[in-house]
Amino acid sequence: MTRSAVLAGIGSFLPSRRVTNEHLTARLDTSDEWIRTRTGIRQRYFAEPGTTTSDLAAEAGARAMKSAGLAEVDAVVLATTTPDRPCPATAPTVAAKLGLVGCPAFDVQAVCTGFVYALATACGLLAAGGADTVLVIGAEMFSTILNPADRTTSVIFGDGAGAMVVRAARAADGGAIGPFDLGSDGTGADLITVRAGGAEQRRGRSAPTAGDEYFSMAGREVFRQAVEHMAASARAVLSRAGWQAGDIDWLACHQANLRILVRLADVLGIPEARVLANIAAVGNTSAASIPLVLDQAHQAGRFQAGDRLLLSAFGGGLTWGSTVLTWPDLTRP
Ligand code: COA
Repeated sequence: MTRSAVLAGIGSFLPSRRVTNEHLTARLDTSDEWIRTRTGIRQRYFAEPGTTTSDLAAEAGARAMKSAGLAEVDAVVLATTTPDRPCPATAPTVAAKLGLVGCPAFDVQAVCTGFVYALATACGLLAAGGADTVLVIGAEMFSTILNPADRTTSVIFGDGAGAMVVRAARAADGGAIGPFDLGSDGTGADLITVRAGGAEQRRGRSAPTAGDEYFSMAGREVFRQAVEHMAASARAVLSRAGWQAGDIDWLACHQANLRILVRLADVLGIPEARVLANIAAVGNTSAASIPLVLDQAHQAGRFQAGDRLLLSAFGGGLTWGSTVLTWPDLTRP
């Protein structure tokens, strides 16, 4: 029997501290108007001191498991750019917080593409028979790596977490997640990076420079490549699935910039009314953004069972990835 993976539950979590554009204009040379018109963002959430990425991940994971009606899963895969520590991985801590001691748990690092990579990994585990249920989480605390003096990144990113439970199904049952299209181009590693903290800096190819410990991004070049790679990846996955752009009920992309979402929909020929966007309210939450936007849309009752979704992301690495899924008959909390 060929096994496939289907969505069984979904959940998300945002920390309580709301940071509006006005909060940022009080300490940075920027304006609400610039942030809104260049990115579409009005506010984001930052976690309170004392909170860690594993706390956000565990809360979103618990909600997804509740949505799936499960007290246990067979594996936990966490996509994050902001692990609790450089070593060990954060996923085992998340699993322990969920009472899941003993199950395999590991991190996937593909920056803003992380959730799509993690979902592909989970689907692979299910297809190979290594698990019957997998909790896939995207969780980020970019507030811990942003340079507070850098207006080009500080206005964009926010903290948050989103999660899905995927379970094994018979391929013949329909509604399977996939196929996937994944890619990378490491020649662009410098475009989105935290330079310090790894072997490269510790074995000193060059003397550390002030600010190396913070996240940095070449925004304009990233914008161009994001549209190009997401469009190519989305087209590749549609072709593998045998779907047309006109079949798509919802385009659920990584929430990098509202202008990127609009441009991508235009390039793919998908009407703007079919684009899911929550970036105005949460900013760019990196690996958390796709499950977060999906859960919020689900809770708002926007999906019908049978709706066809196209997911696509682009991020540091450089990395990109896309997949498709058919929305199942999930009850809302
Ligand atoms: N407030 C006011 N001015 C700002 C600013 C801010 N927060 N940030 C940058 N600027 C200025 C720049 O200094 C520049 O000024 P100059 O023309 O005098 O040099 C000007 O605005 C334009 O900067 P630029 O970087 O070209 O703007 P942009 O239109 O490309 O928008 C981003 C910047 C970052 C919003 C945009 O490039 C972007 O969203 N990129 C992709 C981000 C992304 O996807 N990241 C995640 C990848 S997964």
